[in-house]
Amino acid sequence: MERQEQQKASRLVFVLYPSQGHINPMLQLATILHSKGFSITIIHPKFNSPNSSNYPEFTFIPISDNLPESQDSFGDILGIVSALNKNCERPLTECIQQMLKAEDPQDRLSCIVYDSVMHFSQSVADHLKLPGISVRTGPAATMFAFAVCPRLDEQESMSLDGKSDLLSLLLKELAFSMKKFTAHGLLEFRAAVTDSVQRCSALIFNTVDFIEQEALTKVQELFSASAFTIGPFHKLAPTISSSLLKEDSHCISWLNKQAPKSVIYVSFGSIASIDEKELLETAWGLANCEQPFLWVVRPGLVRGSNCLELLPINFQDSVGERGCIVEWAPQKEVLANDAAGGFWSHCGWNSTLESICEGIPMLCRPFFGDQNVNRRYVCDVWNVGLELEEFERGKIEKAIKTLMVDTEGEEMRKKATHLKEKVGLSLKEGGSCYNSLNDLAEKILSFRP
Ligand code: UDX
Repeated sequence: MERQEQQKASRLVFVLYPSQGHINPMLQLATILHSKGFSITIIHPKFNSPNSSNYPEFTFIPISDNLPESQDSFGDILGIVSALNKNCERPLTECIQQMLKAEDPQDRLSCIVYDSVMHFSQSVADHLKLPGISVRTGPAATMFAFAVCPRLDEQESMSLDGKSDLLSLLLKELAFSMKKFTAHGLLEFRAAVTDSVQRCSALIFNTVDFIEQEALTKVQELFSASAFTIGPFHKLAPTISSSLLKEDSHCISWLNKQAPKSVIYVSFGSIASIDEKELLETAWGLANCEQPFLWVVRPGLVRGSNCLELLPINFQDSVGERGCIVEWAPQKEVLANDAAGGFWSHCGWNSTLESICEGIPMLCRPFFGDQNVNRRYVCDVWNVGLELEEFERGKIEKAIKTLMVDTEGEEMRKKATHLKEKVGLSLKEGGSCYNSLNDLAEKILSFRP
């Protein structure tokens, strides 16, 4: 009883990074910790504000971010990350100072829980003498990679050639995938994240021990803060939508009419973009593959276009009822539907976790950043997917058939089902995630007794 009262008196301030793939896991984590008795304040930049009405028990506070009015769907990701880390420091400090001044003794502020991308939050925590908890919403492997090679460039990554241990391979993937970004901004970013993690009081990972064992061991060797592996967050939090775009749920009635495990679900997340030719190749690959498909064609998937207008006029006629196209789907519900049989994905970490948690094998087409690392995990470590090498209709058709109907795909589906079961066990009482979450709650309670 005493414990419960003490827990209810602990308020956590969450600092969000305003991108769909980060908002989702952070709000899931907030929901999980709320269910453990903590009260929650969400502080977020005005850009891409989350829908607070879905979380009536949380307090939402927008802070000024000074970003230019129009953002090109995260065209310049590093530019935005760097601007947010610079522009939000003062507003966040002032906001938390005000909270501390008005603090209710029964609801004292315990610590700042921040997305590791918003690394400036640790400086705010240090300045205000509060503990900071860094949350890596993506794979733990990237935290390790940022730390060991903040300056890993293309040339240095060549030195990893020939090395076949998992971590060397992941480092190489990350170095390669970052080529697109300006070296300067990237090096600064990696160094700043690493520096903040060196100063934080705890680390939380949206992952499971056994799927990233090697990377987690390395992270724990590198950083002194205790690491808590409590995820996949979405399996611990009730499904509340935190979508920035409106979910089109008519695809669920369409899915309900399809045969079990027959549908290939296609989505490239919230940021990745393709060109018009790639859109057309995708369309014809799906039309020719003879499998039912559910395709998310979000506005801006082809930059500057709402995309649907770019599809061939005869496309819908040629696929008929076999194809369902939406601008945004309730993805977790889609993947949990019996009809879902495969996921052609850009391999964002959330999509990857959501897929393996439902035992769905993947067709991987990574674009940038951690997506290449995640592809490596899916195809070469967990063996629950294959890679699509090119946006070309014949290759797409072949890859979908391999995944959905061939024995190779069937083997991957079996492995994916096994992975799903193992993850499920880790979440149950006595499992590693279950224990880690309880340890995390204890740790937070010890911060400001
Ligand atoms: C970004 C990065 O691109 C990714 O590499 C990183 O791991 C996380 O941040 P994003 O590209 O949006 O994320 O992909 P992902 O991590 O998969 O997150 C997308 C989220 O949007 C998922 O939770 C998914 O369920 C949701 N989603 C996606 C929908 O709800 N509906 C859709 O139609 C598509």
